[in-house]
Amino acid sequence: MAARIIVGAQWGDEGKGKIVDLLCKSADLIVRYQGGANAGHTLKFDDEEIVLHLIPSGVFNSSGSCIIGNGVVIDLQELIEEIDKVESMGFPLDERLFISQSAHLILPYHKVLDKVKEKGRGDDAIGTTGRGIGPAYVSKVSRVGIRMSDLFFPGSFKKKVRRNLEDINKALEHIYNEPTLDADETIKSLEPTIERIKPYIRNTTETLHQALSNGDEILMEGAQGTLLDLDHGTYPYVTSSSPTAGGACTGSGLPPTAVTHVMGIVKAYCTRVGNGPFPTEMTGSEGEKMRKHGAEFGATTGRPRRCGWLDLVALNYAIRLNGINEIAFTKLDVLDHFDEIKVCTAYEIDGSRTEVFPLSTDRLEMVKPIYETLSGWKGSTRNTDSFNALPKQAQNYIRYIEDMTGVPLRIVSTGPKRSETIVRDLEIA
Ligand code: GDP
Ligand code: IMO
Ligand code: MG
Repeated sequence: MAARIIVGAQWGDEGKGKIVDLLCKSADLIVRYQGGANAGHTLKFDDEEIVLHLIPSGVFNSSGSCIIGNGVVIDLQELIEEIDKVESMGFPLDERLFISQSAHLILPYHKVLDKVKEKGRGDDAIGTTGRGIGPAYVSKVSRVGIRMSDLFFPGSFKKKVRRNLEDINKALEHIYNEPTLDADETIKSLEPTIERIKPYIRNTTETLHQALSNGDEILMEGAQGTLLDLDHGTYPYVTSSSPTAGGACTGSGLPPTAVTHVMGIVKAYCTRVGNGPFPTEMTGSEGEKMRKHGAEFGATTGRPRRCGWLDLVALNYAIRLNGINEIAFTKLDVLDHFDEIKVCTAYEIDGSRTEVFPLSTDRLEMVKPIYETLSGWKGSTRNTDSFNALPKQAQNYIRYIEDMTGVPLRIVSTGPKRSETIVRDLEIA
């Protein structure tokens, strides 16, 4: 029995999709445990690229089952489009994709609320993906959410939508000055999607527990990243779920004692989409250069990602928080283009040095990063699949990160494709 959690160790977009695709070959179950279609996980095949938002990234490279766990919030239309896309590529999902009956739905009113609330925040906007994520989790926590299991009881489903819309329409009309939504039209627009999705709905907690008692191999796929975690991230500039390792348990029914590995996915530098503090951000031409070479544009929204050097204060916080005991280090090749590589090893706040990541966003805004500078390699690491074939300075960079974190870099990724990967001391069946 082995359950491995794949967790984003930074602000998302670390390359989780590529690594899940790589590691899933022998997995019996691949489980998404939180977030929704705000996630964009990119897989690159020979001449095709696919971005998955809800279906686990293990769908192409394994024969295992794919679960969308109770912690995920689901937009039915988005999911159906994704099912169609995956099936059209020759991967049937009947009896292979299972959706938790306890997962909550994202309804059209959540998407409207996401947009109007962002608009209302003005300069303090979070920069959400506009997919209705925050409002859907608000419904869940307020205990007025609609779950997949409700789809089997049309009478009570309709009653819940009507009751929710009564409240939401009052807010849209009187607080936000926006047009209201018609309950009957909302329900009617959902009906065809409901019928299509019903066959996938299951008690996935039971499926997971059966898999554990069979000794199956389980891969838990996090979305977003540690610093976007609702509790542990840079609040309020976070998402509304728990991407950290603990969220893998609450978002699926996995008992913590089943977890054997927590793999942190770490980009060789940092990026962030949306607003909020980012100590090592480079706003000038160096940041532009990183964005260009890393093709750093959002996989879901197409927005340019903010770029900066690797931040070890934040990374070591993420390692402790998640219990990361192995790292997949991605996008090393993007640093091929830099003469010098900087790494933030500490922060200066109010004239004092600290290696502790501040939990207050106001304090985090005040930090000045303290850097160590390493020499670059100015050569191509692209396509390299062995550690010894890397330029010496690139090897040094990897060893340096291992020393500074105390965690082995089991995977080093040197390009978006499966073949562009160095695997070190890790068995991939
Ligand atoms: P995720 O959300 O964590 O799955 O990451 P995204 O898919 O949003 O963003 C990662 C991007 O980097 C995608 O376009 C990947 O194809 C690409 N990528 C992944 N690993 C590498 C790598 O090692 N080198 C390069 N150059 N690109 C990579
Ligand atoms: P993957 O899984 C990067 C960011 C948004 C915004 C904040 C809140 O591809 O790594 P939300 O729509 O969730 O309410 O937006 O979170 N965000 C992500 N950033 N990668 C993601 O997912 C993200 N999902 C949400 O940009 O700052
Ligand atoms: Mg992404």
